[in-house]
Amino acid sequence: MAAIFLILINLLELFVIRSTEVGNLVRNAPSFQSSINSPPNKGPLWPYKAVDDIIALGNLNGQFECAYTGQDSLNYGWWIVDLKNTYDITRICLLNRGDSYYTDLKNFKIIATNRPVSGDENICSTIGGQSVDKALDINDYKCFTCPSSTVGSFVEIRKTKVDEFVGSLCDVRIYGQLIGPRASQLLNITQFKTFPHDLDIGKLNDFNLQSIWLKTGSLYRYFRIDFGKQIKINGVFIVGSATDYSNRKFTNVYVSISSVPETIFSTGDIYLANNYRSTAYVAYETHRLFVNGIITGRYLVISQNSPATSTYHLEITELSIYGYYDNISLGGRIGKELLVESIKVDGNDVTSQLTNGIYEEPTSVELKTNAYLEITITTALIDSFCMNAVHPSTTKDLTVEVVNASNGTIEIYMLNGGFKGLECVCVKNLSIITNLIKVSGKDDESITEIDVFGKCK
Ligand SMILES: *[C@@H]1O[C@H](CO)[C@@H](O)[C@H](O)[C@H]1NC(C)=O
Ligand SMILES: *[C@@H]1O[C@H](CO)[C@@H](O)[C@H](O)[C@H]1NC(C)=O
Ligand SMILES: *[C@@H]1O[C@H](CO)[C@@H](O)[C@H](O)[C@H]1NC(C)=O
Ligand SMILES: *[C@@H]1O[C@H](CO)[C@@H](O)[C@H](O)[C@H]1NC(C)=O
Ligand SMILES: *[C@@H]1O[C@H](CO)[C@@H](O)[C@H](O)[C@H]1NC(C)=O
Repeated sequence: MAAIFLILINLLELFVIRSTEVGNLVRNAPSFQSSINSPPNKGPLWPYKAVDDIIALGNLNGQFECAYTGQDSLNYGWWIVDLKNTYDITRICLLNRGDSYYTDLKNFKIIATNRPVSGDENICSTIGGQSVDKALDINDYKCFTCPSSTVGSFVEIRKTKVDEFVGSLCDVRIYGQLIGPRASQLLNITQFKTFPHDLDIGKLNDFNLQSIWLKTGSLYRYFRIDFGKQIKINGVFIVGSATDYSNRKFTNVYVSISSVPETIFSTGDIYLANNYRSTAYVAYETHRLFVNGIITGRYLVISQNSPATSTYHLEITELSIYGYYDNISLGGRIGKELLVESIKVDGNDVTSQLTNGIYEEPTSVELKTNAYLEITITTALIDSFCMNAVHPSTTKDLTVEVVNASNGTIEIYMLNGGFKGLECVCVKNLSIITNLIKVSGKDDESITEIDVFGKCK
């Protein structure tokens, strides 16, 4: 009798699906959510609160320790965690709130995906209008067993109803079997250079909702990141601002990846986001802009092109970039440091001002109408010539003359002056061996930086 009883207990044990830290794939993993709820006394309820080391059923020492999105009246909210590699996910356990608001955890799907956007998705479980049970203590996780096809490297909790919070995620544990590595990973952006050069890029990853990039007005509403060398990028998460619910929201946005620092719109650019328009009405929205594939380049430009004056506003508080360096298939492009030897205007040496990596004023050089900028480079097969210029009007072109080193002929290329203000413009896809490039203006431009890309002979 006693023996039978013991066997029964053992059988029961088998059916109680336990949640333990052993095998949990997501402790302190990168996480994102559709917007950041930021109630006045509780602080931003970041997505990481669902996977960090602090496990509480709500308030702890004056802080609220669960992840919460805002309430978006038009869109399905989401919370995503990055598993970094591809797994066959077996089980997902959620720790709900311990108070009467536990009913927020309802109407959602748990999905495994290969990219953190809608698309190829494998459903682990669907929860309807009856919420997940209230947690009685910090070990009271509710677990969901996934079907065997639940393969992916991101796990998303996605609402099946609009106008509700993704909330009550006090802790999340995920278990599974490793299938293989994933190439694209969250990059540490602190090492990258930016335009403007004095931007503290680390503050775009500091879990603070301070506006780091804010541009208004009609001229150069763009920001640029220089990865330093060619890189492969497949997406970004951008957290907007407190005004994301208003007419100043993150809209008409372009995110391009290019081999050159060009900032004006041009055909042939490859975009992560091409005229992205947010439909959300919620503060601190997180925009997830991913491509199906990978884009190679050295520069990432986030810009806005909006015809309506009231939306001349580009504001970012947090930025996360996914990609990887692929050292094999990068081609032969090298930086200007190896190419530019000297730059002169009317005989005056201006090399240091125009090769200092600072693309904005005041380190600029005047190029008076009909004056020549003479750029001497190490003899090279060049493929792009770029110039950062302040152009006073939109009408007058700049002329770039490249001396063909093989036979002394001057090849003339026009740089379209169809821009006003401070922009980087390039002559691309050149294929000419040269050691001298001359630029002349017709509009009293100021030049702030010169880049020549190519392969040394
Ligand atoms: C990112 O890089 C910086 C500088 O190289 C380093 O101090 C920091 O710890 C890194 N951050 C992460 C999350 O690895
Ligand atoms: C490429 O080179 C960088 C150093 O420049 C290194 O950190 C990285 O691991 C390399 N990537 C591959 C795929 O070998
Ligand atoms: C140099 O080469 C170009 C292209 O082949 C040709 O058009 C030009 O006439 C040549 N110049 C001289 C001086 O031979
Ligand atoms: C530049 O050259 C590349 C590679 O040869 C090609 O794919 C691209 O279409 C060219 N771009 C333009 C604007 O001609
Ligand atoms: C430069 O001159 C060489 C020699 O004449 C010619 O073969 C080449 O096509 C020229 N390059 C360009 C871009 O015109």
